[in-house]
Amino acid sequence: MKRPIAILGAGNMASALALVLARHNRPVHLYCIEEDVTEEMRRDRCNTKYLAGHRFPEHVVATPDLVTVVNQADVVFVAVPSFAVAEVIAKARPHLSEDAIVASITKGLDPETLDPLILTEAKLLPPKLRKRICTIGGPAIATEMAKGSPTALVIAGKDKKATEKVRALLATKTVKVGTSRDVKGVGLAAALKNVYAIGLGMCDGLKHPTNAKALVMTLAIAEMESILERAGSHLETAAGLAGLGDLIVTGMSPHGRNRTFGERLVGAKSKKPADLGLGTVEGISATVLAAQLVKKLRMDAPLLTSIARCLASSKTFERPFVSYLKTLKLS
Ligand SMILES: NC(=O)c1ccc[n+]([C@@H]2O[C@H](COP(=O)([O-])OP(=O)(O)OC[C@H]3O[C@@H](n4cnc5c(N)ncnc54)[C@H](O)[C@@H]3O)[C@@H](O)[C@H]2O)c1
Repeated sequence: MKRPIAILGAGNMASALALVLARHNRPVHLYCIEEDVTEEMRRDRCNTKYLAGHRFPEHVVATPDLVTVVNQADVVFVAVPSFAVAEVIAKARPHLSEDAIVASITKGLDPETLDPLILTEAKLLPPKLRKRICTIGGPAIATEMAKGSPTALVIAGKDKKATEKVRALLATKTVKVGTSRDVKGVGLAAALKNVYAIGLGMCDGLKHPTNAKALVMTLAIAEMESILERAGSHLETAAGLAGLGDLIVTGMSPHGRNRTFGERLVGAKSKKPADLGLGTVEGISATVLAAQLVKKLRMDAPLLTSIARCLASSKTFERPFVSYLKTLKLS
C-alpha cells in the first residue's frame, strides 16, 4: 500500500499543498476540524470556503480523525494558523510514525521564548523526529500556487535527507523549491516580514504607493538582516527568497491580510481586524512579539518599533510610522 501524505489543516495553504502533492498518486489526508469543509470535500471534491475553483482528486481526503490522517504518513505537513500549531502537534505526536518528517509552513513567533514557532514545534516532537523537522518559507501565496503560477518555496532543515525528500514532494514545473540549513533564520524571516508588511500597507493607506514602499522595503530588509544576525542565524537569509522574496509578496499583494490591515489602519477608528473587515491577522501578534525580541536582543530596530507603536496606540494609529518616516535620516 502507498504511504499517505498528511496535512494538518484544510485551509487556504493546506488545500493548495494538497493539490501540489496530489500529483504523486499517493493518498493525501487532510486533518479538518470544520464539518462543512469535510462534507463538501467528500460530496463535491471541492473546498469553496478556503480555495474556490479547484476540484480535488479522489485520493485527497479530508477528515476530522487525526489518527487516520497521520497514521503511517511518512511526511506530515503542518498548515494551521500560528495560534493552533502547538495544540495540533501535541495531539498528533502520539500517532506519528517513527520515520516521519514534519514540515511546517506555519509562520509566527512563540509568545514565551520569542523564538520562531518552528523551534517550538521541534521541541514538541520525539528526538528522532525533531532532528528531521523542516520549515517551509518563501514567497508563496497559496491561491496563486494552486493556480499554477510560478512559485518559489524554501525548505529549511538540518537533516539533508529530510529536506531533499520534502523538496522532491513539492517541486513541480511551476513550484520551484530551494533548500537551506538556516531553520531559525527562515522561521524568523517568515514572522518578521508580516510586521513589515503592515508598514507597507500603511504606505498604501497614506497614498504613498511606490517611492515610500521601496524605501520601507529596503529598510525592512536591512533591519531583518541585523535581527537575524543578532539572533544567531544567517543574515543572508533575509536578502533571499524567505526574507526579501516573502516580504515583496506579503507587502505588495492586494490580497495580503497583513498589508491590508496596515492599509485599513490609516485613519481608522478601531484597530480590531474584525472592525476592519478582516479575519485573523498573524502580523499583529508577530509585531508585539518581534518588538519584545529586539528588546531582548538589546538592539535598535526603529522601523519595526514604529510599527509596534502604531499597534499600541489608542488613536491615529499611523502616527508613529509617519513620524518615523519624517525624522528618518539616511547614512
Ligand atoms: N495562505 C497563504 O497564502 C499562506 C502562505 C504561506 C504561509 N501560510 C501560513 O500557513 C498557515 C495557515 O494559513 P492559511 O492561510 O492556510 O489559514 P486559513 O485560515 O486559510 O486555514 C486555517 C486552517 O487551520 C484550521 N484550524 C484552525 N484552528 C485549528 C485547530 N485548533 N485545530 C485544527 N485545525 C485548525 C482551520 O480549520 C483551517 O482549515 C499560517 O501560519 C500562514 O502564515 C499561508
